[in-house]
Parts: sequence; C-alpha cells; structure tokens
Amino acid sequence: MAKARTLFVCAECGGGAPKWEGRCPHCGAWNTLQESREAAGPAHRFAPLAASTPVRSLAQIEAREQARNPTGIAEFDRVLGGGLVQGAVVLIGGDPGIGKSTLLLQALASMARVGPVLYVTGEESAEQVALRAQRLEVSGEGVDLLAEIRLEQITQALVERQPGVAVIDSIQTLYSGELTAAPGSVSQVRECAAQLTRIAKQTGITLILIGHVTKDGSLAGPRVLEHIVDTVLYFEGDTHSSFRLVRAIKNRYGAVNELGVFAMTDRGLRGVSNPSALFLSGHARDVAGSCVMATQEGTRPLLVEVQALVDTAHVPNPRRLSVGLEGTRLAMLLAVLHRHAGVATFDQDVFVNAVGGVRIMEPAADLAVCLAILSSMRNRPMPAGLLAFGEIGLAGEVRPAPRGQERLREAAKLGFGQAVIPKANLPRQPIEGLRIHAVERIEDALRVFDEAGP
Ligand code: TYD
Ligand code: MG
Repeated sequence: MAKARTLFVCAECGGGAPKWEGRCPHCGAWNTLQESREAAGPAHRFAPLAASTPVRSLAQIEAREQARNPTGIAEFDRVLGGGLVQGAVVLIGGDPGIGKSTLLLQALASMARVGPVLYVTGEESAEQVALRAQRLEVSGEGVDLLAEIRLEQITQALVERQPGVAVIDSIQTLYSGELTAAPGSVSQVRECAAQLTRIAKQTGITLILIGHVTKDGSLAGPRVLEHIVDTVLYFEGDTHSSFRLVRAIKNRYGAVNELGVFAMTDRGLRGVSNPSALFLSGHARDVAGSCVMATQEGTRPLLVEVQALVDTAHVPNPRRLSVGLEGTRLAMLLAVLHRHAGVATFDQDVFVNAVGGVRIMEPAADLAVCLAILSSMRNRPMPAGLLAFGEIGLAGEVRPAPRGQERLREAAKLGFGQAVIPKANLPRQPIEGLRIHAVERIEDALRVFDEAGP
C-alpha cells in the first residue's frame, strides 16, 4: 500500500537515504545526496494484474506459444489443455470428499521431479497431508508443505521460495489481516484470490486454488473468482460411484468442456483413458427405458446411457425429474412428444437420468431422452446395439449435432450396430458396421423404434 516513496541517492556512492542530509550516511561525502523518486514502488494491492505496457499495434506484438508443463497425470493435462502454463491461475471446485486434495497432491508429487512445488494447506494439518501422501504412495521429496491460513504469510512464502507450482487448499480458509471479515466471506475470498493472482502474474508462479462449492453446485464465494482466474475446473460425478470427472468450464489456455475421467482407487485417482464404457450401465440383458447417446465432450466423444422411467402418477401434478440432464428441457420434450408424436404423459410421472453421474447439458441428448421415454412407456427395450443423438426443436424437427462423424465413429468402435441420427448428420461415406437411420422429425425417430418390433 506504499505510495511512491521519496528517496535521496548519493551521486558519489549510489547509496540511498530516506531523508535529505548534508552528508551521505554511506560514504561520508558532503552535499552529494540528490532527490529521486522510486520508479517502481511496491505495487499497490489493486495494481493491474497484467504488466502495463505502452500502446502498440497488435500486429507488432510477438505471439509466443506459452510453454506448458505437463502435470504427469494425462487426464488432468487433457482438461488443462496440455499442461499448466507458467503464471496461470487455476481454480478447481467440487463437492467435499470428491478428491480435490487427492488429485492435487498427486499432481504436485509428480511435478516435484521437475522443480520446487509448494502445497499450502488451510484445511488439514501437515500430518494429515503426510498421511495422505503415504496412502497414495507418493514420495514427499521436493514437495514443500505450509500449513497456514494467513494470506500475508502465504504470499511471503511464495515470494521467498519461488516455487514453480503452488496449490492453495482451499481459498475459502484463507484470510487477510487487512480485512475484518471472517474467512470464507465474500470479501475475504475475493481479496485473497486477487492478491494471490497478482503474485502469480508478477512472479510466474503457477497457482492452483481449490474452492468449495455451495449446495447448488456453484463455487462458493463471489462469481468474481471465476473472472479473476484463467482456468476454472469442476469435479463432477457422484461420490457413491468411484468415477470422477473433471470438467473445464473456462480455460484461457485450452478448450472448454474438456473432460478428464478418473477412477478413485485405494491409491488415489487413476486416469481412465477409454471412458465410454463407464457410462453404459452394463445390463446383462436389454431393459426397457434406456437409450444410449453419443455426446461430445470437448475433443472427445463419449457414449452415455440415458434412462427414463414413466409411471402412473397418483397426484394431480405428475412429477418430472431429471438427473444429469436439463430439467427444463424435459418438460419441453414431453410437450413436443405429445403435440407432434401423439405420446401423452400428462397423467404419468417421468424421471430421466444420465448413468454414471455425468452431466449432459447439450441439446443433442434430446433424441435419446425421447426414445428412452417411449421405451419405458411401451415397456419394450430398444433394439440391441442402437444409439441415438440429435436435438429436437419445438416444431418437432430433428436438428443436427456438432461433430456427428466423430460420435458415429466412437459408436462403431464400441460395437454399436445402429444409430438414429439427424438427417443433416448423415455421413458422406458409410461407417463400417453401423446401420444409420437418418430422421428429419421426431415421429420418424419413434417409428424406427416401433418398426424394430418387440
Ligand atoms: P479428498 O481429496 O480429501 O476430497 P476433497 O479434498 O475434494 O474434499 O478425497 C477424499 C476421499 O477420497 C475420501 O472419501 C477418501 C477417498 N480416497 C480414496 O478412496 N483413496 C485414496 O487413496 C485417497 C487418498 C482418498
Ligand atoms: Mg480437501
């Protein structure tokens, strides 16, 4: 918070003095002190995050690819867009107990082989972290540990030790002595994140902040946190299954919606390189009310099973519930099914679920949701090896999904034999082993199911 201080510098020896004196306190020469303003005084705590530069033409600025340091965990690198960028600030959020501390301790232990790293823990004691490291069977060699919640102490440690990467576990536990609010309050979280970000940008330290999430699943603390940082990652997946997904929500250095898939084992998180099989429920035989869809997550297609249960409602307002799929879209799809395909559900409860705790927010899930609902209503399984994707419009039209080819190839690779897809996604060349039903309207898609016979 210091203002630009006035310093007096000796013309003879270059020594400085805080106030003017007739004689230099260093070399003793007389009348040599001259006033000088400290050019770059200590930065104000609200100094701009990026170094300020004069106006230049964009064309003259050399665009350098920033070097990326792989974390040594392939699936984590994938969500980060290929590794950690120097000076980047990454925020990673998720439910309690989902594996945030585990993943980052594993990543730090692996990065410690390349350079110094620092783990700041505000939630657990140093002994608890050591126990976890022992359980993960990672060596603590090269990992510096700081159990601290005072921001000023943490920033001092960062500046003094200059680690390549530092993890703050978690941002909600920190507090700055400059504010009176309690740790975890909006003003503390904002202040601590802003200060740490400034240090990361000035020193080139890569910072990973762990954040808590609120009950509705968004990051606790101000939204501004997501704006300050370069990358925002979320842990998804239900804590009852062993699978964990890490999704990029914002990434200044890579693709968003990229997904890293992990399995929680007794020795920490292990990357899953072929995740499609995870989100298929693996029924021994075909069951009614289920349809597989091909979704596209970042750069990777993923096959996910969508389940539906349609049951007679015993209350005047039938229930519509969706887990892992958009709830408002379900109501819309039921209206489209009724209006354009004559499938009435006004006296039925309708539940839909995406298997494996994955969240599908893209509208291309529509067709699979409708087919699963129909399959449940008719109590008849989908034909074996059938999969569907496509968005459904209010007029009952089936709209194309982006990257249809890749979805179809993934389906063929995993042994699917039939696909119901939007006509506009019809591939130019046939895909081996895959029979394609290209449909233009919702009625056509339902007809494919009906004609497949019991
Ligand atoms: P943790 O990383 O502490 O979660 P967070 O920091 O997100 O709150 O994860 C703890 C959970 O993971 C806990 O329920 C135990 C489980 N776990 C394993 O199954 N295997 C392991 O090797 C470790 C370290 C944790
Ligand atoms: Mg933790």
